[in-house]
Amino acid sequence: LFASVEMTPGDPILGLTEAFVADSRPGKVNLGVGIYYDETGRIPLLRAVREVEEALAREAKPRGYLPIDGLPAYNQATQKLVFGAESPLLAAGRVATSQTIGGSGALRVGAELLRKALPKAKVVISSPSWENHRVVFNAAGFDVVDYAYYDAATHGLDFAGMLADLGKLEPGTVVLLHACCHNPTGVDLSAEQWKQVVALVKDRGLLPFIDMAYQGFDKGIDADATAVRLFAESGIESFVVANSYSKSFSLYGERVGALSIVGANREEALRVQSLVKRIIRSIYSSPSTHGGALVAGVLNSAELRALWEQELTEMRERIHAMRAGMVQGLAAQGAAQFGFIQQQAGMFSYSGLSKAQVDRLREEHAIYAIGTGRICVAALNRGNLDNVVAAVAAVIR
Ligand code: LMR
Repeated sequence: LFASVEMTPGDPILGLTEAFVADSRPGKVNLGVGIYYDETGRIPLLRAVREVEEALAREAKPRGYLPIDGLPAYNQATQKLVFGAESPLLAAGRVATSQTIGGSGALRVGAELLRKALPKAKVVISSPSWENHRVVFNAAGFDVVDYAYYDAATHGLDFAGMLADLGKLEPGTVVLLHACCHNPTGVDLSAEQWKQVVALVKDRGLLPFIDMAYQGFDKGIDADATAVRLFAESGIESFVVANSYSKSFSLYGERVGALSIVGANREEALRVQSLVKRIIRSIYSSPSTHGGALVAGVLNSAELRALWEQELTEMRERIHAMRAGMVQGLAAQGAAQFGFIQQQAGMFSYSGLSKAQVDRLREEHAIYAIGTGRICVAALNRGNLDNVVAAVAAVIR
């Protein structure tokens, strides 16, 4: 029956983790997948999360179905975090939010919605973008093309190229934007640059689809949501936000994300939400209970939220320290050209390493990175930093 099914290439990110797990060499390091590891090399279980988890265990509640669009307390807390508690959009009832199966689920449900609402639209993503963006929008039936973004020569932003490409798009084109901590490059827009992009997108009648998977991982919860807040203030009628708690709550496997659609008014938001619910029902019916309850439990308690913010700050500061450590370590080995790693934001750095150098890192040093040269700096710690630095210095020689 399945004789015609050919072998499909493995996922460039999660497939690499499979190879890493199968590697028996001691001291191996996974700089591939975007996961934050703490100083001891473990994925942290945040204290704020554990408190809610223990309370939930004590309550031992039954596990009925959640509503199709998820836990209301989760969706409300998400709206406040993403748009700001005082957002006029929220007061006006213009935002329809659904708990989704991770940020990826939000992207896919959002893509399905747009495919129904704007069947002729094209989708544009940054060059480069997260590997799965193209896959998700293609799977929903969209043509996906790139807009200029990363400048390999400067290891920074090709802002003129970005504006030029966005300026040529047809009205109604869906523009996928990374709110912060751009994946894979770590290269973000400044607030001033965001203002220009927002003005251009509004003028040309484009539809922004903002992916915010790393809120709090660069500057802080509100600062990292600058793009969302600027679009909200701009008076633009509609935009879409997918957000994820995988990283910010260290809840990767709980698959906690959300899709928020901003409509022209309350009534439009309600109509859009009815379609979102139909789409979710046709894919996975409703989200699972546990992860959403954890996030809602933290965000809806002043005390736990403060604890979470402190833990998020610790994660963010540790990443900044690892960036600095890597740059200093490489400079000490005579490789002074990596200073840009400290300018980049979030978990990732486009290191500039070639595919051949990445292959050597893996084969000769048991250090795993993405073939594009993307490394996850959040997987570095004082225990593995020197080895990674020495290995990088060796493969670039
Ligand atoms: C990554 O880019 O490594 C993460 O977002 C994990 C994933 O799902 O790819």
